[in-house]
Amino acid sequence: MNGKVKHDFLWGTASAAYQCEGAWNEDGKGISTWDQFCHSDKNIKGLTGDVAVDFYHRYKEDIRLLKEGGHNTLRFSISWTRIIPDQSGKINQAGIDFYKNVIKECKANGIVPNVTLIHYDLPAWLENIGGYANPVFSDEFAKYCKVIFENFRDDIPMYVTINESTHNAYCSYLTGNYPPNVHDVQTLVQVCYNLVIANAKAICEFRKLNLKSKIGIVHTTNTVQILKDTPEYRIAQRRGDLFKNKWVTDPAILGKFPDDLFPLLIESGIDLSFVKEEDLEILKHNTIDFLGQNCYTRAVVKPYESGETNYYPNNVGAGQKTIEGYVVKGWFQTDVDPTTPKNAWSREIYPKTIYDMLMGIKKDYGDIPVYITENGHAMAEKPNENGEIIDDERIEFMKSYLEWLIKAENEGCNVKGYYAWSTTDCYSWINGYEKRYGLIYIDYENDLKRIPKKSYSWYRDFIKEHTEGK
Ligand code: BG6
Repeated sequence: MNGKVKHDFLWGTASAAYQCEGAWNEDGKGISTWDQFCHSDKNIKGLTGDVAVDFYHRYKEDIRLLKEGGHNTLRFSISWTRIIPDQSGKINQAGIDFYKNVIKECKANGIVPNVTLIHYDLPAWLENIGGYANPVFSDEFAKYCKVIFENFRDDIPMYVTINESTHNAYCSYLTGNYPPNVHDVQTLVQVCYNLVIANAKAICEFRKLNLKSKIGIVHTTNTVQILKDTPEYRIAQRRGDLFKNKWVTDPAILGKFPDDLFPLLIESGIDLSFVKEEDLEILKHNTIDFLGQNCYTRAVVKPYESGETNYYPNNVGAGQKTIEGYVVKGWFQTDVDPTTPKNAWSREIYPKTIYDMLMGIKKDYGDIPVYITENGHAMAEKPNENGEIIDDERIEFMKSYLEWLIKAENEGCNVKGYYAWSTTDCYSWINGYEKRYGLIYIDYENDLKRIPKKSYSWYRDFIKEHTEGK
């Protein structure tokens, strides 16, 4: 290990429209499922992304801070309802102009835009007719993506179709704490399927334009590991990998669902009559150019013991006792490694997972380019008496993950970029604003003032020291 990545490695941070933009109803924007949910009585905490951190009006300041922090890329998402506000399909020019301005600002500051087309914020009108569960979702998504591709063409060099389709689906249709707040395994499977098909249909639109840009999907591969090596544990590991990862990454990269997936689903009583030959054909011909990987932790599993299928996410509040994890009836359930540290939201901290994940991708999928599109550490933090945010715990987290990433790169994994989650502190879905991930602190009491944390300067120095030719 030489401790450095190649000179053209992308170093940056990531954010998402609903979590940072604010301006929820400005300049012709339509209503998304998160606007609708946050304004309803299902939103127990009452916190919304109406203003968020006001990236919509302050993007110039934020992009300048990125440049000063030594970054050469920014991952952000486009809000679908800013571009196409309602069911009529009419395009909102003000929405296009906003993102054109953001991209222009990125370019002027030497920042490569890496743009996600949907990061959870589905249009409310589509949600209200069944959302991801309605097969029309994939066609509507492809139509919207086509508008983006035609308007932005090669000005966006990296397109991401969908952010974390499975995490979104599990929270929305299993835990039921994200809109539309459903708990139904049959619907969940159909949603996951529709998201896979939507990715392929969007890529199909993209290929028609023969752009130079690249297109990928963002998944969160939790490398699935076991604490005992027995045949039963190995079966649970494979099933965990199918459920967590392979039903997204196999179709996206190989153009087909894993052979053992559908038989297992049928065995579990799932009705697969929604699967269509023509969809499977579309998958075959529309695979990604690169894989975005959000990397937070691994998944430790054991053979199924008891309980109904469910997901216990890490977004139910600091200090809670539930360890993040799954029960999939008859398949597997989460195991707990008592030797590893956990964060305040009970998520396991396991830095080697980034290395295991990259090695696993190389083994399963060869040299497909991989970008770590999110990695970060949640803290409930406050400035000290001098107004500084000394987030040594976050620095320790990032340093340990990055050392494992560099080791994987040096050992031949085709990893080409890293994005810390998140650019600034931002709205953390149903956690609200207490759960902070940013390298830049947001003072919510003081006009959303931006205060770079200690990790911001640390990251700038790390980039310099660990990139060839810097
Ligand atoms: C990822 C999402 O799952 O994790 C982000 O892509 C999210 O949008 C991040 O904010 C951290 O999760 P949470 O629930 O702690 O905010």
